[in-house]
Amino acid sequence: MKKFFDLVLTFSLAFTMTACGNSAQEVTAENSAAAATSAKTSTAVPEKAESKSESKPERQEENPLKNNIEFDFETKTVTLNSGYEMPIYGLGTYSLTGEECVRSVTAALENGVRLIDTAYMYHNEESVGEAVRNSGIPREEIFVVTKLYPNQFSDPEAAIEQALEKLDIEYIDMMLLHHPGTDDVKAYKAMENAVSEGKIRSIGLSNWYVEELEDFLPQVSITPALVQNEIHPYYQENDVIPYIHDLGIVVQGWYPLGGRGYTKELLGDEVISEIAEAHGKSSAQVILRWNLQKGVVVIPGSSNPDHIKENTELFDFELTDGEMEKINALDRNEKHDWY
Ligand SMILES: NC(=O)c1ccc[n+]([C@@H]2O[C@H](COP(=O)([O-])OP(=O)(O)OC[C@H]3O[C@@H](n4cnc5c(N)ncnc54)[C@H](OP(=O)(O)O)[C@@H]3O)[C@@H](O)[C@H]2O)c1
Repeated sequence: MKKFFDLVLTFSLAFTMTACGNSAQEVTAENSAAAATSAKTSTAVPEKAESKSESKPERQEENPLKNNIEFDFETKTVTLNSGYEMPIYGLGTYSLTGEECVRSVTAALENGVRLIDTAYMYHNEESVGEAVRNSGIPREEIFVVTKLYPNQFSDPEAAIEQALEKLDIEYIDMMLLHHPGTDDVKAYKAMENAVSEGKIRSIGLSNWYVEELEDFLPQVSITPALVQNEIHPYYQENDVIPYIHDLGIVVQGWYPLGGRGYTKELLGDEVISEIAEAHGKSSAQVILRWNLQKGVVVIPGSSNPDHIKENTELFDFELTDGEMEKINALDRNEKHDWY
């Protein structure tokens, strides 16, 4: 399977647009140029969170969360197996760069969002960091996720330093490997070291499924705190989510609204629209709520302040079991991106 990913990666770098919106030309240029609501949603570890080192919680060696990933709908957070709290909804920043990214992250933070998802490959870590630093919100209340791309796995220490420098927010709350690739174990071990050095608080994986996890986990020491995979009503991963939860790992869904280019069909879906009308909510809010009730953290992407605000209003209604089942029945195993 890994070989498959490597092959696809090579093919993709050479010939296709990636999910992160970079043309083959841009990726080649990258390669040659350089070898995460309200005060209640504080992402700080609740007790004794005074300084970076003092706030480091006990790592949960025995996976007490196994079979028990529970979202707290009051605090709107989940406790990771690293001991840290992470908000259960946030803003995705894929395709947002420069001033547009700064404005979007700022709008999100002003609307109570405390979880921001970025990545090396989005070319916007500087902009995310700028918005976080200028927000006036205490650093420990904001949870920032970033990712190492496979073209960085061969020199992961340099890549981690680069992310810290670009973000410039003291530490990284969560770093993920963007998808499997050559040297992914080496890159993960470098992230483990960065955790022990206090540079990164929690680590995880993105685009790892059952087979990949079975292969990968025995090779590393720290159980990932998070797996971020494509999840939406047309691609539900109903077999993968419980498998990951049973490992004590939180699941976060990318492309919650289907991804750019696909949102129209999903938001216009008759079943979802009917449920939305019954609750006086939008289709986007119903899809995001469906994710939360399945135990999936949501990171919708948006540069529209009205949408950003709308995507935070997920806690004043609840989908019935019947409504959840109707949306579950929309699964088509229809992936909207290649990894
Ligand atoms: N790990 C990975 O491999 C991976 C891959 C892809 C994405 N991601 C992450 O997942 C995040 C989410 O994915 P995405 O942003 O690509 O796709 P998405 O969240 O499924 O959809 C984003 C699209 O939905 C629209 N939208 C957002 N809120 C809306 C609302 N309330 N009503 C109507 N339209 C709305 C946005 O337009 P407006 O701007 O007009 O609101 C945008 O066009 C990314 O930003 C990124 O952080 C990770």
